[in-house]
Amino acid sequence: MANVVVVGAQWGDEGKGKIVDWLSERADIVVRYQGGHNAGHTLVIGGTTYKLSLLPSGVVRPGKLGIIGNGVVVDPWALGDEIARLAKQGVTITRDNLRIAENATLILPLHRELDQMRESAAGDGKIGTTGRGIGPAYEDKVGRRAIRVQDLKNLGTLGPKVDRILVHHNALRRGLDQPQISKEALMAQLIEVAPKILPYMDVTWELLDQARRSGKRILFEGAQGALLDIDHGTYPFVTSSNTVAAQAATGSGVGPHALGNILGIAKAYTTRVGSGPFPTEQSNDIGEQLGQRGHEFGTVTGRKRRCGWFDACLVRQTIKVTGITGIALTKLDVLDGFPELKVSVGYMLDGERIDRLPAGHNAQARVQPIYETFKGWTQSTRGARSWTQLPAEAVKYVKTIEELIECPVTLLSTSPERDDTILMRDPFQD
Ligand code: GDP
Ligand code: IMO
Ligand code: MG
Repeated sequence: MANVVVVGAQWGDEGKGKIVDWLSERADIVVRYQGGHNAGHTLVIGGTTYKLSLLPSGVVRPGKLGIIGNGVVVDPWALGDEIARLAKQGVTITRDNLRIAENATLILPLHRELDQMRESAAGDGKIGTTGRGIGPAYEDKVGRRAIRVQDLKNLGTLGPKVDRILVHHNALRRGLDQPQISKEALMAQLIEVAPKILPYMDVTWELLDQARRSGKRILFEGAQGALLDIDHGTYPFVTSSNTVAAQAATGSGVGPHALGNILGIAKAYTTRVGSGPFPTEQSNDIGEQLGQRGHEFGTVTGRKRRCGWFDACLVRQTIKVTGITGIALTKLDVLDGFPELKVSVGYMLDGERIDRLPAGHNAQARVQPIYETFKGWTQSTRGARSWTQLPAEAVKYVKTIEELIECPVTLLSTSPERDDTILMRDPFQD
């Protein structure tokens, strides 16, 4: 049996959380490997809704181990809040079901402040970040001045690290006309928050290695989506990490050969939250209907998501750059009742046909989708649990998408509920 990496194949919010939760029944360990609490993963189990941001979506199943890998940026205050929120819903988080990499980077309040200050200073040019400090924390990681989880264990040696990060941030803050942060204040914050995270700290690369050698099955849970990838996405309107499947290896400390199958999650239409190009966006009644039927509001920020038709050209591209071997198509039920459906199969750019999204932001904003039109269906697909329950037009829609994206659809999701899922091919199968 193989391990499985779950990745978003569009701009995030494809339904990764639901699919990871559903698949976690077959896994022993669920690992987050990038992003932070900019992610919002919603699970609906027997009518109860769970919203996860930092915790791996396997934690609601008893007996599964969740790991937050080294590639994640962890806000320990947000972690504490999320654990407390889940406790109220009857999910207890202890060292038995959560471990956090000792070498993961911390998000500090100064990162959140910088994220928000920069966004408000950028006016119309803003990225539309979640304001959680994700970008600034990754910048400090790459800038080699970040505070990491294990630093909280050695409070005696924290002083020079705090000096180092503050030299940088106080210079920035002076430029932005913001008050300086004192060493004492930051030290006090770190000392105060350490007990929220240290109980879960572990050598997670080693734990994963042992698990692999004893035949345990690992599910790697991606956050965001390939089009938000720092290299392959719609730069600069992206997040600050690699979101493609290869990051599962670096972000958790297993080699690339350990990853196994790559399951891409794609919505049966497209959404995006935040700024940036979106070729198939429907800024009209169709977009409104998709948003209303799909409840397209951000899990993290509550922002309204932009909505549009399925873009087969884009998903074909993300399948290639992230190495997706099968697609889970979600939210098919949201398309119920549309008289006709459109799918983009390529673009026109300045009078020429192209079959990929260009890298430049201006060209991305200029492409015009070439649509194929499909007949919709009037019956409900909501809650369908087998192919035979789907109307012929819905089957045709899925089959055509499969051809256009050049990748098999191996799972279908027909409602937010955990079990309203149709499995065509088990992703854990070699
Ligand atoms: P993620 O970030 O990829 O985990 O996705 P989100 O949880 O942010 O957004 C997906 C939303 O769609 C959530 O509210 C899910 O409960 C919901 N959802 C997932 N799959 C389906 C589906 O097949 N049908 C419908 N109607 N909703 C779904
Ligand atoms: P999940 O895991 C959708 C978007 C933000 C913004 C850009 C940069 O739920 O799919 P950031 O705060 O990361 O610096 O914001 O990325 N973004 C997401 N959009 N789903 C997400 O996560 C996202 N995480 C970040 O809206 O456009
Ligand atoms: Mg989400």
